[in-house]
Amino acid sequence: MKKLIIALMLFATPMLSMGASKAHLDSAGVDLGDKESLQRGFKYFVNYCLSCHSAKYQRFERTANDLGLTLEDVKQNLMFTADKIGSTMDIALDAQEANGYFGVTPPDLSVITRARGSDWVYTYLRSFYLDDSKPMGINNVVFPDVGMPHVLWELQGWQEARFKKGEDGRMHFEKFELVKAGSMSTEEFDGAMHDLVNFMTYLGDPSQMERKALGVKVIIFLLILFVLSYLLKKEYWKDIH
Ligand code: HEC
Repeated sequence: MKKLIIALMLFATPMLSMGASKAHLDSAGVDLGDKESLQRGFKYFVNYCLSCHSAKYQRFERTANDLGLTLEDVKQNLMFTADKIGSTMDIALDAQEANGYFGVTPPDLSVITRARGSDWVYTYLRSFYLDDSKPMGINNVVFPDVGMPHVLWELQGWQEARFKKGEDGRMHFEKFELVKAGSMSTEEFDGAMHDLVNFMTYLGDPSQMERKALGVKVIIFLLILFVLSYLLKKEYWKDIH
């Protein structure tokens, strides 16, 4: 009996989590080798997200170094919430205060792409839509009843969501319709969100790029060592064969 219960629990857990994220996710196309995309993403992040969310496991200095930006540039143009380049990416907003505004505290975003997946975050940021039945007048297809405002409306504009009745009798998301254009076209906005999520993926695991570069060096070293050992072996056995 006990075994049966455990087996049921093991099966039920993945099924439950699958049910929760049924919405279709678009690919974020993460490419950590694209430094320019990461730099643009960093700019979007400090301009549009860092006011409410922190990324407190990351320092400005490290970000500048990893992304190939000068410390002076970052200090002048990208630091609104801290004054020392060695500071972590904290926010000015007090957690208690934020809770009062939104009813929830905006979570720290340092490792959100690892928790939710980059594709989820990419789809989430592009899935805010107008919904009169909600207190803030907006909703999100992948995060129903979301407490976050559509902070990127100036860029994206406003969209409405169309739903279609599925075979199971429930309403399923079909498509978005832009009702008020923003400063960017849909393609431009998708590109900007690609950059932003690319940066947030870097944020979730900053030493990833370093590890990959180191891995390549190690392999090259092993190859050279292999050739040398082989030559040495040939030299040793030369007179015996
Ligand atoms: C005006 C404040 C505000 C700004 C600015 C803001 N957010 Fe949020 N965000 C929130 C709040 C509040 C929540 C919590 C929503 C909830 O739990 O219902 C949230 C939730 C999220 C989540 C979901 C976290 C989870 O629970 O998994 C992500 C991802 C996110 N924000 C990303 C961003 C990004 C990226 C930006 C910058 C483009 C941004 N946010 C800007 C307030 C903000």
